[in-house]
Amino acid sequence: MNPTILLVGKNGQVGYELHGVLSGLGKVEAPDRQQLDLLNPDSIRRVVRKIRPQLIINAAAYTAVDSAEADEAHARAINVDAPGLLAEEAKRVGAGLVHYSTDYVFDGLKGEPYDEADPASPLNVYGRTKLAGEEAVRKSGALYLILRTSWIYARRRRNFLLTVLRLATEREELKIVCDQIGSPTYASDIATATNRILAGIYERRRDMSVFARVVGTYHMTAAGQTTWYHFAKTILEQASAATLQIEWVAATTKGRPLITQRVLPITSDEYRSPARRPTYSVLSNSRLARTFGFALPAWDIQLQQCFAPDGIEVARQRHV
Ligand SMILES: NC(=O)c1ccc[n+]([C@@H]2O[C@H](COP(=O)([O-])OP(=O)(O)OC[C@H]3O[C@@H](n4cnc5c(N)ncnc54)[C@H](OP(=O)(O)O)[C@@H]3O)[C@@H](O)[C@H]2O)c1
Repeated sequence: MNPTILLVGKNGQVGYELHGVLSGLGKVEAPDRQQLDLLNPDSIRRVVRKIRPQLIINAAAYTAVDSAEADEAHARAINVDAPGLLAEEAKRVGAGLVHYSTDYVFDGLKGEPYDEADPASPLNVYGRTKLAGEEAVRKSGALYLILRTSWIYARRRRNFLLTVLRLATEREELKIVCDQIGSPTYASDIATATNRILAGIYERRRDMSVFARVVGTYHMTAAGQTTWYHFAKTILEQASAATLQIEWVAATTKGRPLITQRVLPITSDEYRSPARRPTYSVLSNSRLARTFGFALPAWDIQLQQCFAPDGIEVARQRHV
């Protein structure tokens, strides 16, 4: 079956990459925010009922972790009420729903990779709203995949990678938090992995029976783990003179050289931010590997791919 796909959030880090890869799977309808505003329930109903997709992918969210602390109602409307309504509408039209969630549903105290059955206990408003959004999707009765991912970066929008590159043109010394451990994940790999799962579901049968068999929550992150400090150092190591010529890097650095000489580790206490973050939020991807037969590449390999010129494929190791 070639599903009609409703993609929500086409301009986000993951949404943009999805838009690029999903066209091989089916017909993609990707409304902008004027057409489908998650703060406007009527616009959600109107678009879903008009398009009548077989698949809805919600890549939109309120993702500003620190701002959410003082903006809970807004975050809740986008991260809880809207996914709940998208799920209800998916059920109504018989569509499957893919919804993304976060490692920040966990408190970070486990000390080893979290699996999907571990109890969630978010430390901040963003994590609480994302967890409540998951629950709204689960209780809707729709066929769903909740894909929890982490520390997303891309060649565009706002993220840690682009911030480090920009700061490296301005400061000789960077101070980066060294006591939070997670798995930086490239938006492009999330899109590719999502597409691979969906191709397996939709290409085999004309009905939703394959989707029904895999309904559930899955962790989908880069393999391996690191700290923000080590991630920053690796970004600067990988950003060589050659990569500075690449269009997206040159746009970020405005063509200026990187002048950072030292990256210093600091603690979360030394870098005060409005939202508390888990100290350890690595997610075990073994359920994804067991169910779908693949795993995402390691975080540093993903970063190499992000820096590679378009069309160049770096050796992608498998971590099953
Ligand atoms: N970023 C991370 O590090 C991270 C980590 C773990 C999990 N996640 C989850 O992964 C998913 C994708 O994240 P991302 O980083 O790709 O997100 P992102 O880049 O912040 O993009 C969010 C998207 O949501 C859209 N959006 C926000 N409010 C909207 C509204 N009222 N109506 C319609 N669209 C709206 C934005 O539209 P505009 O383009 O118009 O602003 C944008 O396209 C989200 O579920 C997020 O919670 C993210």
